[in-house]
Amino acid sequence: MIEDHESIRTLSVDIGGSGVKALVLDITGNPITKRMRLETPQPAKPEMIIDAIEVLAASQGEFHRVSVGFPGVVRQGVTETAANLYRDWIGFDLETALSQRLNKPVRVINDADMQGFGAVTGKGVELVITLGTGFGSALFINGKLVPNMEMGHHQFRKGKTYEEQLGRTELEKIGDKRWNKRLDKAIASLQSLFNYDYLYIGGGEAVRVNLELPLNVKLIPNITGLLGGIALWKD
Ligand code: BGC
Repeated sequence: MIEDHESIRTLSVDIGGSGVKALVLDITGNPITKRMRLETPQPAKPEMIIDAIEVLAASQGEFHRVSVGFPGVVRQGVTETAANLYRDWIGFDLETALSQRLNKPVRVINDADMQGFGAVTGKGVELVITLGTGFGSALFINGKLVPNMEMGHHQFRKGKTYEEQLGRTELEKIGDKRWNKRLDKAIASLQSLFNYDYLYIGGGEAVRVNLELPLNVKLIPNITGLLGGIALWKD
């Protein structure tokens, strides 16, 4: 054991299509440093993102372990898809590479899954969607995650996926008003598909949601993506 369990600090990292963010959490999951953000390097190759994480880590003081939310399918620390990053991520062992670079234990999961851990109550069917560069999704049943759901790449309407219709590129093209109308339809479609008890909407563009939301739909702050990092060390 490195030191007294109570003083273990977790560096929580959120890799996004436009920004890489980090802060340190104490053992209870409370943030104890100021969140720092760097622009996602372009092209967003693994080595360049790892360099960015190293810079962020150096700004955050002491930590003992690292949690990472990655915008693609992640299995056993290996990234299997990366729709908004770079093809070299397919089959990349991020957990091992980052752990070697930072010399600390690392755990990696999908970014929406990590965000979900920061949001859910642990009761019933809870769905999380994230609105940013991509469209993230995570499903929890009584607090248990169904990993890598990837709703974003499934058909929503007019032969297009949720991500094609509601991702940042489309938001910039069609503007807030039409985007909100579509989001309203997406919420209705997800409600009828999952019959969730709660839906949480997070991600960088959640601040642009301007709808009267049903009582079981809640907006969550973008920092939730980082707060969820503590859950990766619960077992
Ligand atoms: C990826 C998801 C990710 C989402 C949000 C999608 O393009 O496929 O894995 O959660 O973007 O970053």
